Amino acid sequence: MCGIVAARVDGGAAPYLLRALTLLEYRGYDSAGVAIVTEDASTAVIRSVGRVGGLTTDVAAWSGAPLTGLGIGHTRWATHGAVTTGNAHPHRDCTGRISVAHNGIIENHRALRQELEADGHAFASDVDSEVVCHLIEDHLESSGDLLRSVHAATRRLEGSWALVVTDADTGRLVAAAHHSPLIVASSAIGDFVTSDIGAIADWVDEYRTLVDGDIVELADELVWTRDGQRTAAPQAALCPFTSAALERGSHADYMAKEIDEQPAIAARILDDLVPHIADGSLWRSLEAPAFERIAVLGCGTSLNAGRVIARAFGALGGIPTVSVVASEASETILDPGTLILALSQSGETADILRALDQLEPVSAGLVAVTNNPASSVARRAASVVDCNAGPEIGVAATKTFVAQVITGVAVAVSALVATGRIDRSRAADLTDDLRRLPDLLAQALEVSKGVVPGIVDEVLDRSGFIFLGRGPGVVFAEEGALKLKEISYRWAEHYPAGELKHGPLALVDQGTPVIVVDNGDPRLASNLSEVAARGGRVITIGGAGSTIPAVGMSMSRPLVGGMDRWGPLEAVVPLQLFARELALRLGLDVDKPRNLAKSVTVE
Ligand code: F6R
Repeated sequence: MCGIVAARVDGGAAPYLLRALTLLEYRGYDSAGVAIVTEDASTAVIRSVGRVGGLTTDVAAWSGAPLTGLGIGHTRWATHGAVTTGNAHPHRDCTGRISVAHNGIIENHRALRQELEADGHAFASDVDSEVVCHLIEDHLESSGDLLRSVHAATRRLEGSWALVVTDADTGRLVAAAHHSPLIVASSAIGDFVTSDIGAIADWVDEYRTLVDGDIVELADELVWTRDGQRTAAPQAALCPFTSAALERGSHADYMAKEIDEQPAIAARILDDLVPHIADGSLWRSLEAPAFERIAVLGCGTSLNAGRVIARAFGALGGIPTVSVVASEASETILDPGTLILALSQSGETADILRALDQLEPVSAGLVAVTNNPASSVARRAASVVDCNAGPEIGVAATKTFVAQVITGVAVAVSALVATGRIDRSRAADLTDDLRRLPDLLAQALEVSKGVVPGIVDEVLDRSGFIFLGRGPGVVFAEEGALKLKEISYRWAEHYPAGELKHGPLALVDQGTPVIVVDNGDPRLASNLSEVAARGGRVITIGGAGSTIPAVGMSMSRPLVGGMDRWGPLEAVVPLQLFARELALRLGLDVDKPRNLAKSVTVE
């Protein structure tokens, strides 16, 4: 949510900033901007509403003093202030010397603005972030030192921030972080700061992560400070991939690519994990504490993945489970002995981090399942499981859902055997069922691609959709409805099928699409008859004979396997494809749905 970058390179910074912003665009795409120090020691601030493509054109048209190798950039997901050029980052102080790009929220910005305005500072935007420039300006006047001024300014801030700051007079560059992700990296090309390693992966081999309270100057030697004190730079981590992993190749969009990758990702994860599941060694390697109960914690799609995993703990091991919507964690009272399993693709979701502040101290411990083992959530957890899906660029989560479910279920089975709740032969049997998933996902892809476009044709003009399931199918119905809402902007509701007759059936009219995740529960038949009798268009996703026969294909024991354990995971494939196809037919950008962004770093 908002992407920031800074470059300190020989030659021009602009190509680096623009390339990185393009790769960061999934974090916010309502406006973008750069501030690049010029050869006459002023700053070119170039900002535009819309995508980075528009900004690139504007930068190419720059006709002022030549641009240097020092600059910062930002791609915005608006929190405070409308989407206008004036509210786009970077922002500047009154003198034009200091430029700042910010990701996060300055909670006390109103009070600070009042105080600064009373002192004569003139504000040029409505955004909270601008107070940071003016605070730095004030301190720079007295101290003359950028690093000290950023320290002093951040001491006045409440909220969250990842900041990059340039001083055009001295050519200095400082980065600061508190409750927002930020990394720095140096290479032969130069120094970089960014929200996500993927944005600079082509230019660096390793990177260092700022933790809360870190302020770093990127000079010939890194000057690292923590809580105001000079400290050694933390250990560098190796860059996990190159930007080739971020290309969409021949796919029409990232969502298509990420849906298609699911069978291969499932196979890769299982190749790694299978040898360590049935003997309990996967669980033992996590060194997680003893537990009596499990609370899965997450938001959106990751929470849905958590619910599938919770079901596995419950159905297979009789473990009591609760699922906690991270933003509502304050409503949760954990029973004694509850282990938290936090699910987060990005590992930077602010709602989860705040929920952990509250729940972790009263829990038995924390295990994080994340696609980003260097993230804030991972750093908080003693036990971290990498769900290993590779970078996900489409804002709608697809492959990370599948990766989290498989990884989490593998952890669940391993935990149950390691703690004596199931025996090894049962664990081996479950592991065999997990091994089938790559094939099941591949078959679901093939079948669905043939059938889904025709079904979408029939329902293109419908404004509302109902998704139903029973038992382990309910969470998949929920995930299907979430995907449809977020990328097609059509209303979609999900219900346990038995609930339909208690109210929602009133929504069903001639042609209302009712999409059913059919896990073989015999009670579904009467629910579907009730829909059909009212003219509803029933679309079943299930085994042979379904509208989309994508579940359990070629299984020698239909409706056994994972179905009654962690649910029909392969059903998510047609649900994803259905949402994508509908959105595309409606002329929408499936990778960047309106109002949304990936990695939600504000509460
Ligand atoms: C939906 C989606 C979101 C995320 C949610 C949590 O397609 O992507 O619902 O699942 O914002 O994000 P992470 O997993 O990064 O914590």
